[in-house]
Amino acid sequence: MAMNPFEERGIPLERQIRTWKQVALPPYRKQDVDAFTRCRIILMNGIENEASVFSHGFARASDDPDLKAQLATLRRVEHQQQNTINWLNPADQSVLETTIAFEQVAIELTAYLARTEPDEYVKQAFDFGLLEDFDHLYRYSQLLDLIHGKDPNEILQGRTDVLPARPTQDHHNAPFLRLLSHYEKTRAHPRSKVNVLTLLAGEQQTMNFYKTVGNLYGSPEARRLYAEISTVEEEHVTQYESLIDPTETWVEKWVLHEFMECANYYTCLETEVDPRIKQIWELFLGYELEHLRIAGDTLRRLQGKEPQEVTGEELPTPATFETNREYVTQVLTETSDLRLVPGGKLARVAELDADWPSYAYQRMVHAEGVPSEAVVKLRMEAAGVDLVRAADPEMEEAAGEHRIASLDADPSRDTAPATYEEMTPFERNVPPGDEGDVRLVNPVLDPTWPRAAAGAPPKPQRRTAGKAKSRAKKRKGA
Ligand SMILES: [Fe+2]
Ligand SMILES: [Fe+2]
Ligand SMILES: [Fe+2]
Ligand SMILES: [Fe+2]
Repeated sequence: MAMNPFEERGIPLERQIRTWKQVALPPYRKQDVDAFTRCRIILMNGIENEASVFSHGFARASDDPDLKAQLATLRRVEHQQQNTINWLNPADQSVLETTIAFEQVAIELTAYLARTEPDEYVKQAFDFGLLEDFDHLYRYSQLLDLIHGKDPNEILQGRTDVLPARPTQDHHNAPFLRLLSHYEKTRAHPRSKVNVLTLLAGEQQTMNFYKTVGNLYGSPEARRLYAEISTVEEEHVTQYESLIDPTETWVEKWVLHEFMECANYYTCLETEVDPRIKQIWELFLGYELEHLRIAGDTLRRLQGKEPQEVTGEELPTPATFETNREYVTQVLTETSDLRLVPGGKLARVAELDADWPSYAYQRMVHAEGVPSEAVVKLRMEAAGVDLVRAADPEMEEAAGEHRIASLDADPSRDTAPATYEEMTPFERNVPPGDEGDVRLVNPVLDPTWPRAAAGAPPKPQRRTAGKAKSRAKKRKGA
């Protein structure tokens, strides 16, 4: 049921400050948590950080003492909310495990928003970013295996595939190419405004996380990979913020922020499977309804405008986490070869001119090799294959070819080949592959895993060498 947040009563501001014990609650157990509960926690942490950053920016641009006092009061609440949510993550979840979860958030959130986005141009921008975060998951998964010896499905729980998409080495653009055309504030659907702001908050959090933790591994490959991908996340922030109408006033933006927070907490409350976490979403929705009322009153007082003119009256449901496998696969197969060209437009790799501005930029940053290719090659050397996990075995088999076919006309010299056989193989006493060719994704995995499985992992499906070969043959013949 859709909610009109302007008809609901929130929790009074004087009851929104909590004790340190109430702020820093016990974390979830990483062995038990539902993958999408973890996704909601990561996203809402990003949303609260955006609320804080925005409020600081607004305060610095304002000379109205009453307004500044109000912002400072609400900002303190947003700060406590952020602490509570981020402190739900446990200390034993490694940086790389959390990184896998960050990319799962990016993929499933972006895919859901793209599927529900009413504006075709905005949807196209989401699809474009989607394939880049999808490829990041694949690159980080190589590193998770190399450094921690872990399978990404310990985090993803089989809800998100791990496949190469648009290659990360091609995500690096001449900075101005990321600037897209913005929506018009009076004509845009409120859902588009909320979608863009939600995704922007998520991407900004990802950028800041990688910028902060990318130095925490001793491995030079890991340190470089975080540097490389944090830079792509900076491009994502630039891309998504450029979609916002710059003529929105600060107060209008404030109303939109509080509305967006309401929409996200409302979605979390409606979809949460963990009863303890659900209570947190409910409490914070109560806080945000009051924030929205206060921001709306300020808009009325200072600009004589009704908040509903900015937001509409119905909360959309942006933070819906569900498997978008079919959608992602379709975007993957159809658009991996798209690239950004001037004027906020997209073109196919084959249509790019020799003086496409990103070629020059990529030649500079890639002159000494590309970290996102190095980790694939290292994993191939270590295991005889790169790490891919998909519900559809044919997608896994085609992954190497797709990775190479999606490159632009000027790939870096150290690009990993499609298959291990194209590298210089060394003597092995075991056949190359993951656990003797056991498939590690069960396509019929119960979505309530791991609770339903109660500790029993899904039975791995054995793929026989004969079947794999005949499929490869069929592909070649086609
Ligand atoms: Fe908040
Ligand atoms: Fe990413
Ligand atoms: Fe991203
Ligand atoms: Fe708020």
